[in-house]
Amino acid sequence: MTAVTIPGVDQAPTTHKRLLAWVREVAELTAPEQVVWVDGSEEEWTRLTDKLVDAGTFTRLDKKPNSFYAASDPNDVARVEERTYICAVDEADAGPTNNWMDPAEMKSIMTELYRGSMRGRTMYVIPFCMGPLNAENPMLGVEITDSEYVVVSMKIMTRMGTKALDRFIDADGTERDFVPALHSIGAPLEPGQADVAWPCNDTKYIVHFPEERLIWSFGSGYGGNALLGKKCYSLRIASVIGRDEGWLAEHMLILKLTSPEDKVYYVAAAFPSACGKTNLAMLDPTIPGWKVETIGDDIAWMRFGEDGRLYAVNPENGFFGVAPGTDYHTNPNAMRTIAKGNSLFTNVALTDDGDIWWEGIGDAPEHLTSWKKADWAPGSEEKAAHPNSRYCTPIDQCDTKAAEWDDPKGVPISAIFFGGRRATTIPLVTESRDWQHGTFMGATLSSETTAAAVGKTGVVRRDPMAMLPFIGYNAGDYFNHWIETGKRADATKLPKIFYVNWFRRGDDKRFLWPGFGENSRVLKWAIERIEGKAAARETPIGWVPTADELDLDGVEGDRADIEAALEVSAEEWRAEIPLIEEWFDKIGDKLPTPLRDELEALKQRLG
Ligand code: GDP
Ligand code: PGA
Ligand code: MN
Repeated sequence: MTAVTIPGVDQAPTTHKRLLAWVREVAELTAPEQVVWVDGSEEEWTRLTDKLVDAGTFTRLDKKPNSFYAASDPNDVARVEERTYICAVDEADAGPTNNWMDPAEMKSIMTELYRGSMRGRTMYVIPFCMGPLNAENPMLGVEITDSEYVVVSMKIMTRMGTKALDRFIDADGTERDFVPALHSIGAPLEPGQADVAWPCNDTKYIVHFPEERLIWSFGSGYGGNALLGKKCYSLRIASVIGRDEGWLAEHMLILKLTSPEDKVYYVAAAFPSACGKTNLAMLDPTIPGWKVETIGDDIAWMRFGEDGRLYAVNPENGFFGVAPGTDYHTNPNAMRTIAKGNSLFTNVALTDDGDIWWEGIGDAPEHLTSWKKADWAPGSEEKAAHPNSRYCTPIDQCDTKAAEWDDPKGVPISAIFFGGRRATTIPLVTESRDWQHGTFMGATLSSETTAAAVGKTGVVRRDPMAMLPFIGYNAGDYFNHWIETGKRADATKLPKIFYVNWFRRGDDKRFLWPGFGENSRVLKWAIERIEGKAAARETPIGWVPTADELDLDGVEGDRADIEAALEVSAEEWRAEIPLIEEWFDKIGDKLPTPLRDELEALKQRLG
């Protein structure tokens, strides 16, 4: 029998044996029309974006250079947690919070889905690197996909193409390891069959094989399901690597804060999807003299440095931000970044003169094309932009990026913020007593669900460290990894942990705290706590400032509201306890004893 010839499969710009073998194996299974090795060049970008315009997937924006509007299939707008699996060999290693299936069984189901799934399409091979290319141990991956939309999005979100492939083989000929990530939209084209603007499949699987460091995704073209370097590699697979190697892969933004005295601090913050990471990362402080610069807006990889401090690196190269609510008041830096062009906009609305629009960006024009590609006018019952519509834009063109955003050494973290979206109970800011108590805060973090994942929104759920959909192993083991991390460093060198809530509401549902740029007041208080300069009152849940202890000079918003945002209500907290108990019961035997102890101590303090 002779091997099937697929044009391009042998035109590989590498001799990396494992990569060549895997590409051939996938091509033979999925049967594409041709194979293209992605180089990441500007010519390639132009060729692919032109192709996407011709296919009707993209509309070129007249008002933003080199930028495009895309509308997805209405059933492919967000991450699908129901269809996301951790296929560890042993079910216990997936734990109580992940979907699990036996890896062999999953592979046999998906192999049949992949068989011929790229017929009539081009199979792209995208070598990529998460984190700086000049890292001593570059974190390499290869995504195979049959979606041009994925290729151009990966160009913004990762360091990819030839410059990444160059790191696959060392000068001495050693072939480096990489994470294979297979993606197919699952929409083969028969000869003569017309394509649709957003091909995808009703059957979706987002699957991780942690022991093999392998990712298989099928059926969806949406960011978190299809750009496999992001949530799949940098969180689910990387969290497993971090567990094994003693570091942390977290769902955290990284920002650089400079005080009026020119002292520099780095802060990492974990909030669930669509709960304010991108906004905090690009914050424009409302307090004079303080400066914020951006290092990352979604993911932090944190390792101990030789000095015993925890250093964070952003593995990404772009922002994949929630569009609605973004404007020159809430996030001026994001607006300035996308104004420069070179950006993709998915499921926003399109103006008649070739610009983008979404709820919260300002007054709506008389007529729009909605994310559903329907006519839309002000007063319409439906939203013009999907609540999870996204902009995708390079970090490099963000004016507030910190000079060290691309430094493989990372930046030493002084403070970690955990936060969620809670209408009640959780005060604006609480400082933990120590690392273990901070880990308890993270492990019991709760938030109202958002449009970033398919399902009902506004339902309170536990979202530990904002990692519920992203922990690649057993959540109990993950908590233990956090506790152990705290034992590996001198307490004075560990970041201080805080718990924040920008989303507490008053009786009429209004937000009690003005948020956005005003969040700089909370950053300032946290830094001054670390410096021993700011006061706080001790409460049953930790250290909480009074309104007098925050710098509220010139704050937007009502003093009584801010006081209400800072309130610690023993009654509300007593109502929270059974929810935490239920959550800990779900974690089961693997729950670390120190976290049970923290819960008991909290109950005692609440009386
Ligand atoms: P991410 O997905 O965690 O990066 O969240 P984003 O920063 O993109 O924000 C998600 C949504 O929350 C957007 O609609 C924002 O406008 C909104 N948001 C972000 N920060 C704040 C805040 O401080 N207060 C309020 N009320 N809304 C916020
Ligand atoms: P995010 O997630 O909301 O945390 O930015 C992106 C995604 O849903 O893939
Ligand atoms: Mn974000």
